[in-house]
Amino acid sequence: MEPKTIKKIGVLTSGGDSPGMNAAIRAAVRAGFYYNLEMYGIYRGYEGMIQNDIKKLDSKNITHVLERGGTFLKSARSLEFKTPEGRKKAYDNLMSHGIDALVVIGGDGSLTGAHLFFKEYGIPSIGLPGTIDNDLSGTDSTIGFDTACNTAIEAIDKIRDTATSHDRLFFVEVMGRDAGFIAINAGIGSAAAAILIPEKKMPIDHLVDKLKIRSKAKKSSNIVIVAEGGKSGGAGEIAGKVKKYLPTYDIKVTILGHLQRGGAPSSFDRLLASKLGVAAVEGLLQGKYDVMAGLINNKVVYTPIKKAIVDDKTVDEEDFRIAKILST
Ligand code: F6P
Repeated sequence: MEPKTIKKIGVLTSGGDSPGMNAAIRAAVRAGFYYNLEMYGIYRGYEGMIQNDIKKLDSKNITHVLERGGTFLKSARSLEFKTPEGRKKAYDNLMSHGIDALVVIGGDGSLTGAHLFFKEYGIPSIGLPGTIDNDLSGTDSTIGFDTACNTAIEAIDKIRDTATSHDRLFFVEVMGRDAGFIAINAGIGSAAAAILIPEKKMPIDHLVDKLKIRSKAKKSSNIVIVAEGGKSGGAGEIAGKVKKYLPTYDIKVTILGHLQRGGAPSSFDRLLASKLGVAAVEGLLQGKYDVMAGLINNKVVYTPIKKAIVDDKTVDEEDFRIAKILST
């Protein structure tokens, strides 16, 4: 597309927050200043766009944010933005500030919103993959995924200590919505006895057989990682089913939950977010609209948002094979 003249860019974070969002905002804003643009913070995602919670940013706003978890622009899941009336209000507010382009940082729901908004109002926009779930195509990793995996592994290591002391079987549930990326990474990285992910079926009797084999091999602790979106249920449900087969086992359940979304971003996420924040602004200036900037083999790639959200990125078969070998 022929580049439009862009002078004012609005930045927002939307959906579930992820570590590294602040670093991405900072990089986009810094890049904007580098190219002599005015940069605006849209607070609370699309909700703030609808309620006109929009402020011009200066360099003070982005001082000491790179290293902080969460998002200083705050985030929300806006129901009103899903309606044409909500999007019209949002558009009118952007126009009242003269904002002529957008950087949207979020997961698939947030990028879907950006795509729809672009189709309806033609405002140049670029999405950045900000989610711990890693479920977007067009990037090897999403911003926050690496930190979330590190957090999960650190927590599971601690569970391992107590599991070993008491010879217990733990079921640990990790986030990821419908995807098993956190589960497979955290499972391999913490020597899990088994990993249950939505992408692969594991019948309960197979899991039970595996645990029995490990018991014969005198393994001192067993940790089963369960992805929250699994078709056979969450960690509590699976634990209940296994208990019926193995009534003598001392079984405990831990749901890691939102702690996986917090904390300072890892060096990987800081770098990824910084590269993509700059890529977002440069992409807009080059006329790349309605795309998501991602990093593939360490190179910036712009993928149409429609493709990034629809293409099913699935857990690598090879990772699953390795997990299987390592848990026997
Ligand atoms: O998409 C990120 C995520 O943390 C998912 O892993 C999880 O299913 C969901 O958000 C939780 O959403 P909320 O914070 O709205 O409960």
